[in-house]
Amino acid sequence: MEGEKVGRLILAPLFFTVVLMGFASGIGVNWGTQSTHPLGASTVVKMLKDNGIQKVKLFDADPSILDALKKSGIQVMVGIPNDMLYTLANSMQAAEKWVAKNVSSHMSSSGGVDIRYVAVGNEPFLSTYNGTFEATTLPALQNIQIALTKAKLNNRVKVTVPLNADVYQSSSDKPSDGDFRTDIHDLMIQIVKFLNDNGASFTVNIYPFISLYNDPNFPVDYAFFNGYQSSINDNGRVYDNVFDANHDTLVWALQKNGYPNLPIIVGEIGWPTDGDRNANLQYAQRFNQGFMSRYLAGKGTPMRPGPLDAYLFSWIDEDFKSIQPGNFERHWGLFYYDGQPKYQLTLGRTNGLVGASGVHHLAKKWCVLKPSANLNDDQVAPSVAYACQNADCTSLGYGTSCGNLDVRTNISYAFNSYFQVNDQIDSACKFPGLSVVTDQDPSVGDCKFRIMIQTDSAGRLESLRIVLFVFLFFTLL
Ligand SMILES: *[C@@H]1O[C@H](CO)[C@@H](O)[C@H](O)[C@H]1NC(C)=O
Ligand SMILES: *[C@@H]1O[C@H](CO)[C@@H](O)[C@H](O)[C@H]1NC(C)=O
Ligand SMILES: *[C@@H]1O[C@H](CO)[C@@H](O)[C@H](O)[C@H]1NC(C)=O
Repeated sequence: MEGEKVGRLILAPLFFTVVLMGFASGIGVNWGTQSTHPLGASTVVKMLKDNGIQKVKLFDADPSILDALKKSGIQVMVGIPNDMLYTLANSMQAAEKWVAKNVSSHMSSSGGVDIRYVAVGNEPFLSTYNGTFEATTLPALQNIQIALTKAKLNNRVKVTVPLNADVYQSSSDKPSDGDFRTDIHDLMIQIVKFLNDNGASFTVNIYPFISLYNDPNFPVDYAFFNGYQSSINDNGRVYDNVFDANHDTLVWALQKNGYPNLPIIVGEIGWPTDGDRNANLQYAQRFNQGFMSRYLAGKGTPMRPGPLDAYLFSWIDEDFKSIQPGNFERHWGLFYYDGQPKYQLTLGRTNGLVGASGVHHLAKKWCVLKPSANLNDDQVAPSVAYACQNADCTSLGYGTSCGNLDVRTNISYAFNSYFQVNDQIDSACKFPGLSVVTDQDPSVGDCKFRIMIQTDSAGRLESLRIVLFVFLFFTLL
């Protein structure tokens, strides 16, 4: 009894230190910018701080974003897009320039950007790329590492390659049968050795949603962190969710090839809210909160029980992302395009998400199908196709937020999306004889006809300045 008490007394401070350390390292988030109307960088940085986010992962090294992150106290992973890998693999000079321009210049002055990682490429070994980046990823990684060393930044800034989870696989449903994909096995071992030699981490993106999306027979509850009844027993390790099983398949692959302790970063994890029948607010909330609860408790996986290092995907919706992988691609955000939270989520310090402030929407105007329009008009189909190609109709498919609209409202949705993406200019609601601007919100239930936000474009600021100038001039006279 006494001994137990003493044990507790000694362990209590240790426990709190561990908990505090868990908070100090904090959950990370991905910040992508493939949007027609991105929120201003300083607006997003304020959101990150208001929500207690301490780590952010970028997909490039946009100077305006890095400027906004200056002195924010937020740790940053900058990214190198795949289309730069060839150049960086073949030219040491290009790699040095990249590091000078996109890392050193932001870090040199005191109180600069706290860059911790360079992500070289993004999921370069996806099978849909047909091996395009297999020859260049490792040489680019090596050149960037050499450039960081030359810039004397190698102790502060590490390199990594965010990889898709299909670089490894298991021949059964058991993680212990895991190994790297046979077609890239040797390449993976070289990369893993390189990361290990340089004190870097293995970064992997894990998507239970995609497991469900790709396989109609996938057990839904196994995609989440609660509710699965038929857990898998892997030699005494119990798996009741696919995230753990997937993560530990990687751990086994690393272990089998001689790197049992290589740290793992979960570079992307999340759930989309629209664009597919399994992409909705309820599932996204269930998945992300399930993940966060474990994360905040410092609970890892059966093979790596300690705290995880992870970045949620994604912070904000991106309405200009390629929908080649699926219509859900534009709906991964915890926040809508305008910085408003989608659902309640506890990320740690705050209870629920804090939205963006100071965001201005355009006027309360929508472009809709004219009530008098004839559905048999042969301009209808090409007009809808044009609007959808140039704007965003990903909320219109089966099982999506606007999937139950009648035909006329469905057409209006497409017209309005095009109108909003084009800043509500008159000419964007001129579908031949078919469209009209209205100030009546056409939204139906959960299907929202959105109004675009104002972006701080130079042109608009300039005209505002002229108006102010003219106003002041005449007032002073
Ligand atoms: C720095 O990064 C930006 C954004 O990713 C890129 O466009 C630019 O080419 C990079 N600069 C150099 C010198 O490589
Ligand atoms: C990969 O190959 C397929 C089939 O040959 C082709 O349709 C696709 O465009 C290729 N993708 C890339 C990125 O080269
Ligand atoms: C609504 O529009 C989308 C995109 O144009 C189309 O795929 C879908 O079939 C339409 N649904 C109805 C009910 O008209």
